[in-house]
Amino acid sequence: SKGTYAHYMQKEIYEQPEIIEAALKDRLDVESGKIDFQGLGQHMDRIRTCSKISFIACGSSYYACLAMQELFETLTNVTVSIDIASSFLDKLSHISADVAYVFVSQSGETAECLTALQYCQKRGGFTIGIVNVVDSSIARLTHCGLYINAGVEIGVATTKAYTSQLVHLVLLALALGAGNDSTHDRRREITKGLQRLPEQMRRILTLDSSIKELCETKLMHKANMLVLGRGYQYATALEASLKIKEVAYIHCEAVLTGELKHGVLALVDDNFSVVMIATRDRSFERSLNGYEQLLSHGGDPIILCQEGETAFNISNGHCIEVLETVDCLQSVLNIIPLQLMSYWLGVLRNNSVDFPRHVAKSVTVE
Ligand code: F6R
Repeated sequence: SKGTYAHYMQKEIYEQPEIIEAALKDRLDVESGKIDFQGLGQHMDRIRTCSKISFIACGSSYYACLAMQELFETLTNVTVSIDIASSFLDKLSHISADVAYVFVSQSGETAECLTALQYCQKRGGFTIGIVNVVDSSIARLTHCGLYINAGVEIGVATTKAYTSQLVHLVLLALALGAGNDSTHDRRREITKGLQRLPEQMRRILTLDSSIKELCETKLMHKANMLVLGRGYQYATALEASLKIKEVAYIHCEAVLTGELKHGVLALVDDNFSVVMIATRDRSFERSLNGYEQLLSHGGDPIILCQEGETAFNISNGHCIEVLETVDCLQSVLNIIPLQLMSYWLGVLRNNSVDFPRHVAKSVTVE
């Protein structure tokens, strides 16, 4: 039931801190840094000795993989590739016995993922599932796997499954990197960051009414939007832009901040809404260039930045301030205000936010 919430999507956005808290309590021993994956634990050595980890997913699940690609590369000494399932099939990808093929899917039923899974298995590939729905096809057919335990997600647009995927991917990267002395401090920093996440997520949810107001006053009548992000936050931009298309029915494009000047800037004028994700990390200084370019061409971007940020000259409420965490975890926090933005835009435009037109929760046809 929706309880006191107006929509399942709203309820699922609000459930996120609890779900992440429960997942961490279940899986992570903060003191020792040990991670308990139950069944999957027995397969960790095999995955560690693979020559490559190949992630395969669709839609938001693909963006979750994209968000964590760099982390896998730095914590494990294994090459990482990520493919959208349909493209993996289109390419007639070569299957090798020493690659770990990881299928990430909320429903565990997505048609292209299932076809790609069968394609891998027929050619002797070792397959792993990261799935939410218990006993779903991908959960049953993969050699081993991990449930993200986000609970039943009813809203067609994924929210709580996305952040649970992110956190479980972080845990998997940490577990695969365990024992590597050169990354000890980095793993410790991430483990501590994880511990703080649920509380930070709760605080970020208190932005709800200000985001609703931003949607009412600035965004709900726009026909086009851009979401800019770079580095770890490019995946957040893609996920936010998909959410806005799907729930608000607003044409919204995600652009890598560094690519702005290579063409997209031509779109920008004072009618065009731009949301720029600019929380502080290694690429922050370069994001400032994108900000200057927007301003000098009449853009009036909404900035998603860290609390207390002074690098931007924002006077008109065009600012969404989030708490700071470790760079690779920042996407878990940053997506929350953008989920709320898509939710409120959908509500204000009288859309069916839980069941958007033309899309299904579980996409069982290719
Ligand atoms: C977007 C959304 C979809 C799914 C995609 C994959 O809000 O929910 O893009 O992420 O259809 O679905 P799963 O994860 O069930 O394989």
